[in-house]
This record gives sequence, structure tokens and C-alpha cells, in this order.
Amino acid sequence: MGLVDLHLHLLPGVDDGSRSLDDSLAMARALKALGFSQLAPSPHHRVEYPSRSRELCAAKLEEVRSAIDAAGLGLTLHPNAENFFLDDELLSDLASGRLRLLGKGKVLLLEAPYQGPLPRLGDLVFRLKLKGVTPLIAHPERCFEFARKGRAAELVQHGALLQLDVGALTGRYGKAPQKLARGFLDDGLYAVAATDLHSPAKAEQWVGDSLAALEKAVGKAGFDELFRVRPEKLLVGDTSSTS
Ligand SMILES: [Fe+2]
Repeated sequence: MGLVDLHLHLLPGVDDGSRSLDDSLAMARALKALGFSQLAPSPHHRVEYPSRSRELCAAKLEEVRSAIDAAGLGLTLHPNAENFFLDDELLSDLASGRLRLLGKGKVLLLEAPYQGPLPRLGDLVFRLKLKGVTPLIAHPERCFEFARKGRAAELVQHGALLQLDVGALTGRYGKAPQKLARGFLDDGLYAVAATDLHSPAKAEQWVGDSLAALEKAVGKAGFDELFRVRPEKLLVGDTSSTS
């Protein structure tokens, strides 16, 4: 099996990612060329985007799946969403069991705000774990909260999983996220890596460069763990090797 991407904005016209079905197909082709075989598109669950609608996203996922199959790309798609820590609905969805979960349904991809402290994040991790859901925190290296010394390790200890946005390794988001990402990698804090791909623009080039940087940093076996073995397990709700 190929690589597995658990974070990308592949569904057309629903958020700040793909703008058309052509965009989606071009993004899928770029990832296929780089060795990916499974994708879990993660539309934003945020009030400012149409992708807050689960029904719309389910329909778009089917549309992209059909187009990918018709193009013979051999990519498998899975359900997912990028849930926002500050979204009003998150706690009520947690209480009612209506969370938008990854794959077979034990992992919640959670986006923390970039700015400002998040003292309640530990509490949310705890409440999710009580419900049998494991939070997978997207691009912590870009968040102010995780720049606090020891905070990332503390949240991992409390049962959160951290997801590396692989572009951070090549400085795509600036020097501070790059430095944090390198540090978290060295400390073994990341459970998985992902692309957070938003558009087809130079996708094959920048993602390819980022994958190479990751492999250089952690070696072939480490790369395989972060981009294939563990993401595959999370898709089926197996968090045993990552927590
Ligand atoms: Fe994202």
C-alpha cells in the first residue's frame, strides 16, 4: 500500500481548498504521483465555510470519489473533517455523539487557533478521551499554544495525538513553525504526518520536497511510520501504537 494523507482540502468549492473538480483531480494526481494511495479529505467544520454542512461534504466526497474512479487514479477516499477548537457546536456534538470523525470513527481531527493561549485544550482532550475519541491535533507547530515549552509533550501525555504538517519542515509557514516542527520530530512527539494540501499550485513540487525533508530527518522507517503505518491504523480506529 501507498502513503496515507489524513489532512487535505480536496472537496471542491466548500472551504479555502480546491475551487473546482478540476482542482481536486489535479491535487489527487499530484499526490498519486508522489506515492499516495489513500486520502481522507478534511473540510473545515467552521461557521464561515459551507463545509460546516455534513450533508454537503458527504455529497462532495462522493462526487470527487466518482471523478477519481473515472480517471482511473486508484486512490481510496475516507470521511474526515477539520474541526475547530473554538466552534460552538463541538461540545454539543460531543455530548450527542454527532462528531465528524475520521474514517471508521474513533479519531477527531482538531484544529487549534494559531494565536493566543488555549488553557482549556487539556480539558477538551480529557473529555474526548472519556467518550472514547482520540483527538488528532492539526499542525501544532503553527500554533502559539504549542510554542510554550513542554506544552506539546504534556498534551501527548494526556492522550492527544499530534499531526505534523509536512510543509513546515521546508519553511513553508516560516522559520518559527519550522523550528518547532524539527524539535517535535526530534522529541518523537508526532503520531502522524500529513500535507494539509489546499490547491494544485506546484503541489507535486512542494509536497515532494517536504516528503524528502521528512525522510531525511527521520529515515526511511520513521517516514513509513508517520505517513503510512500509523495513518492506516488511525483510519480504522486503532490508536494503540500512537498513544
Ligand atoms: Fe487544514
